[in-house]
Amino acid sequence: MNNTEEHVDEHAEESEGLIKTPKQLLITVILAFLIPIVVLIMLAHLVAAGEQTGAGSDALQPKAIEARIKPVASLDLVDANAPKVYKTGQQVFESTCTACHTAGVAGAPKIGNHDAWAPFIKTGYEEMIKNAIHGIKAMPPKGGNPSLSDYEVARAVAYMANKSGASFKEPPAPAPAKPAAAAQAAAPAVAAAAPAAAPAPAPAAAAPQAPAAQPKAAAAAPAAAEKVDLAEGEKLYKSVCFACHAAGVMGAPKYGDKASWAPFIKTGLDTMVQNAIHGVGPMPPRGGSQATDAQMRDAVSYMVQAAK
Ligand code: HEC
Ligand code: HEC
Repeated sequence: MNNTEEHVDEHAEESEGLIKTPKQLLITVILAFLIPIVVLIMLAHLVAAGEQTGAGSDALQPKAIEARIKPVASLDLVDANAPKVYKTGQQVFESTCTACHTAGVAGAPKIGNHDAWAPFIKTGYEEMIKNAIHGIKAMPPKGGNPSLSDYEVARAVAYMANKSGASFKEPPAPAPAKPAAAAQAAAPAVAAAAPAAAPAPAPAAAAPQAPAAQPKAAAAAPAAAEKVDLAEGEKLYKSVCFACHAAGVMGAPKYGDKASWAPFIKTGLDTMVQNAIHGVGPMPPRGGSQATDAQMRDAVSYMVQAAK
């Protein structure tokens, strides 16, 4: 019996080894769980921390760059686009001016309301353009859209005013494709509209323009001179030119009025056609239309024939 007991004791001692008490066993078991977990947590943390700095900076940088570039980029766009593609008066109105001028916000004259616009229209197109560009009272400069060119604002003014009782003619585009016109292009955008209110300086402005146009007249005219289609001319006159020439708006020679046409007729048809094509005084190039040279010749002939 004694032997057996000793044997069992030996066994117990042997199998227990380092762990000799229940307390030690408990600690061992707990550590066996905890140590791998702690190691895993630390490893995971290391990896995650590594990813955070790596991925974090990668993801933020393009956004930061974009954010920094954005204002510069859009400014560049304005500069690059402005001289190239002009918004029409309607487009400008619909993108900017409508905010106030459709509902009459802040006391803005409502588009289409003749009474509200009449006092402004009375001051003249030039004055209105000036106020629209620089702002007046509750009206912010350029309607609060500084990306608009002066020319685009002028177009929008014509668009709104013409829907509200005026009959303004948009100024010609400041940068027409013709290289000859390029030199005089930039400045007259608004200036060209000005003579509406101040007809006096118009002939002066017209004078230097005419000689420049004449050499080209010689080249362009003979080709078109062959055939004049008065019916075609009448069509163009009735759709475009009558706007000024029927009533003599801005000092335009009146249709059928011999006396007012005589001084022009004296200069010859070719000169007149070229002046009408390139614009003269308050008259915009081609009367503001897209008419071809031949159609312009037809229309001038149609008007001249009625004034002989
Ligand atoms: C934030 C509102 C607002 C926007 C946007 C706005 N306007 Fe105006 N506008 C006004 C107000 C208000 C007046 C009346 C000012 C006054 O009492 O003289 C006015 C007046 C005008 C006048 C008459 C100015 C004068 O004294 O001859 C013109 C022309 C005009 N606006 C053009 C425009 C054009 C073109 C745009 C778009 C490019 C535009 N407005 C956008 C508020 C606005
Ligand atoms: C926005 C108003 C306006 C429109 C539209 C207009 N004209 Fe004129 N036109 C004038 C004015 C103003 C003059 C006088 C220019 C000056 O002071 O010498 C003029 C002068 C002319 C002359 C004489 C030019 C010269 O010096 O020999 C011809 C020709 C002419 N217009 C043809 C046309 C034809 C053709 C059209 C239509 C395609 C047209 N106009 C549309 C305002 C206009």
